[in-house]
Amino acid sequence: MLNFKTGDLYKLKTDAVVIPVAEDEQLHENERTISLTAKTATAGEFKGAKGDELTLYNLPAEKSPRVIFFGLGKKNKIDAESLRALCGKAVKKCIKSRLKKIMIAVPSSGKLGMEIKEIIEPMLEGAFLGNHVFAKYKNEKKNKPLEKIDFFVEPHILLNFSDLPSRVETVCNGTILAREWVSTPSNCKKPEQFAKNIASIAKKENLIIKDFDYKNLKRLGFGAMVAVGAGSRNKPRLLILKYDPKGAKKTIALVGKGITFDSGGINLKPPGSSLEDMKMDMSGAAAVAATLVSAAKMKPKIGIIGAIPIVENMPSGDAARPGDIVTGYNGKTIEINNTDAEGRLILSDAISYVLKEYRPDILIDVATLTGACVVALGEKIAGLFSSDDELAEKIIQSAKRTGERCWRMPLPEDYKELLKSEFADISNMSSSKWGGAITAALFLSEFIKDTRWAHIDIAGPAYIKKETDYCGAGGTGFGVRLLCDLIQKL
Ligand code: BES
Ligand code: ZN
Ligand code: ZN
Repeated sequence: MLNFKTGDLYKLKTDAVVIPVAEDEQLHENERTISLTAKTATAGEFKGAKGDELTLYNLPAEKSPRVIFFGLGKKNKIDAESLRALCGKAVKKCIKSRLKKIMIAVPSSGKLGMEIKEIIEPMLEGAFLGNHVFAKYKNEKKNKPLEKIDFFVEPHILLNFSDLPSRVETVCNGTILAREWVSTPSNCKKPEQFAKNIASIAKKENLIIKDFDYKNLKRLGFGAMVAVGAGSRNKPRLLILKYDPKGAKKTIALVGKGITFDSGGINLKPPGSSLEDMKMDMSGAAAVAATLVSAAKMKPKIGIIGAIPIVENMPSGDAARPGDIVTGYNGKTIEINNTDAEGRLILSDAISYVLKEYRPDILIDVATLTGACVVALGEKIAGLFSSDDELAEKIIQSAKRTGERCWRMPLPEDYKELLKSEFADISNMSSSKWGGAITAALFLSEFIKDTRWAHIDIAGPAYIKKETDYCGAGGTGFGVRLLCDLIQKL
């Protein structure tokens, strides 16, 4: 769907030509003739400021493409994210105008003062992701994705980056897969259903699959997962996906929180805590599963384990009670002092299993773990916790490249006090009401031992109520591009 085109802009068949323009720049070389039209037509109205937009219709409109200018803002403020945003916005505008195919002109490296790959890659990403429409549950499909998005480039780009469009599609299709899973309502992704859906997609990519059902989870001692799932008639699953290329020297394990609905359990979430959004509490699982699916296509030379505990957290006569003590997979006893702190429980079992079974070199868990993390960092930035400076730095660098921002948070030893239980080895609930994102991360750290580990709390950025430049309302697919980038750099 994404393609590079070169040649004579006016001979190419398209419904619209999108031209990004920096505020302090002349329109770039490719569009010299258009720039003349623009200059005469606007007489100074369009300055290329961020948010500036100008559409010129060439009559007859049905025969020739319209030309849409988009402002990029000041040259020294332009970065990958502003290019992503611009292309996403352009695509969404054209979708709303019911167009089918568009051409986006790529500014030259000299004009923006950026490396050419730094310009093209985010433009492709923003356009592809902005073209995703989640309309599965609408009878009337008002907004139809564009059929074709071409990028008008200089001929040397076509030669040097010929495989870039398909690589971007592979990774971004992972993001879209995760978005769709997250946006799917909880009645359509009960644990068994969700696990089977992931497995069927993973199978097509030749990933190795292990699927534990409730009976096996009980038999094998996944006490924490079983306790969280006890209240629901839709019983838990643990799915393991494995990408195992020949000659791999390292293995990375990814563990994703897969709560298909988080009611809070017996500690039922109070009014005002957006219960209706808690279908998103499996965003970590979605990110991990989609990353494995994309990785299987990209074929990096590193082994990848995806561990995906999938559980519905519901109150009922069978539900775990506050104060219950359970034995986790690694034998530790846990006092469940709050049934709404369920994410760390299912993650601890999945982590223990992965460490014992696969001994990975690196383990990263991704989870919508705490509201406290959203309080700390807001809705656009994830919390990154790691005891390993080098790994943390690599994640932050990947996050910078993909625009999925992570901010490093501390793991203070002395806060572990707060997780002490009178009766069991550990409590799932901090004794302090402050620093909840940190104590949740510290709880997980107690199950890690000495493996290189990072925890990414995505409670803020995993889900949005209102559309943004290159994402519709619902799941954002946060983490997939970041993890794919990281995997290629390890
Ligand atoms: N799934 C929630 C965290 C969450 C909150 C995700 C808001 C997305 C948006 C998690 O299971 C939870 O309920 N955490 C509690 C922990 C507390 C009981 C220790 C929280 O954050 O309040
Ligand atoms: Zn919860
Ligand atoms: Zn939760």
